[in-house]
Amino acid sequence: MTSNKMVLGDYQFFDLKPARQDMHQEIVAGLRAQEKRIAPKYFYDEQGSALFESITELPEYYLTRTEMNVFDRYGDDIAAVIGDGTCVVEYGSGSSQKIRKLLETVHMEAYMPVDISKDHLRNNARALHRDFPGLSVYPICADFTQPFELPEIANGWNRVGFFPGSSIGNFDPADAVTFLSNIARNLGPGAQLIIGVDRKKAPEILEAAYDDSQGITAEFNLNLLKHLNDALGANFAIDEFTHEAVYNEDLGCVQMYLRSRKAQQVTLGTEIVEFARDETIHTENSYKYHLEEFQALAESAGFAVRSVWTDERNWFAVVLLEVQ
Ligand code: TRP
Repeated sequence: MTSNKMVLGDYQFFDLKPARQDMHQEIVAGLRAQEKRIAPKYFYDEQGSALFESITELPEYYLTRTEMNVFDRYGDDIAAVIGDGTCVVEYGSGSSQKIRKLLETVHMEAYMPVDISKDHLRNNARALHRDFPGLSVYPICADFTQPFELPEIANGWNRVGFFPGSSIGNFDPADAVTFLSNIARNLGPGAQLIIGVDRKKAPEILEAAYDDSQGITAEFNLNLLKHLNDALGANFAIDEFTHEAVYNEDLGCVQMYLRSRKAQQVTLGTEIVEFARDETIHTENSYKYHLEEFQALAESAGFAVRSVWTDERNWFAVVLLEVQ
């Protein structure tokens, strides 16, 4: 062990200066495409993040609650399997709520939250460092969807990646393989990855999870347009679009759309975008996996499955992978 590993409760911020994308240009390109689309990252302005918090508490949205239960139920097993001298690297740490749950049972020496949103990352990392004084916290500001290298301070630990929430389901399967291959390279041979995977189940359950009876999910999807109005000076008439979530059984994914109620024009700065009546904007995919399907996907990205933990209903899996 090198000397830096002896420091308890160390803190260092690493800014890898992720390239900023031109939002206006990206949005316009998506709305000019044959099938209109907007990237799901634009859901999360302040209001969108708050709405997503509310989604996680909805009776229909079982994902967050079920995954937390699995962490509760199998925390001791997870701790035993991942071993000692651990540095956990979380890809897309957001508000770092899930690591707090894991920290109840899993001892770790160091935590590296990776997130693109710098101020948010710094605030959440500082708060975590304050609440867990013995834990070393090394926030990394980076775009985790692009290949990047961990800082040298990550060397010498038992590295364990953390990717909860079934966020892997928001990639198309081919992109999920590319992403997981990047993570395998990022963590290095022998490292492990704890990943949350939402499992295939009855379409009614899946569709309700993405179209709740209180309309919070609809509000969340539609808030995307409000975000564009605020950030780009667009003039989307929010009431003239509706939320839609359909489970596509062939693809095995829930597809989210905003549908135009009528023929209309929307202005974004100097650009005008035309909508036909009933035309859609595709906003997100959420793929669901049978365990065997997910195993094959992970293997083609250079991982082996070490353990699988799941809930009583077999709705959600927490999978431990190892880099081959
Ligand atoms: N990543 C979440 C998921 O796939 C995001 C999400 C939840 C979402 N509800 C939504 C995205 C509704 C669009 C619309 O579960």
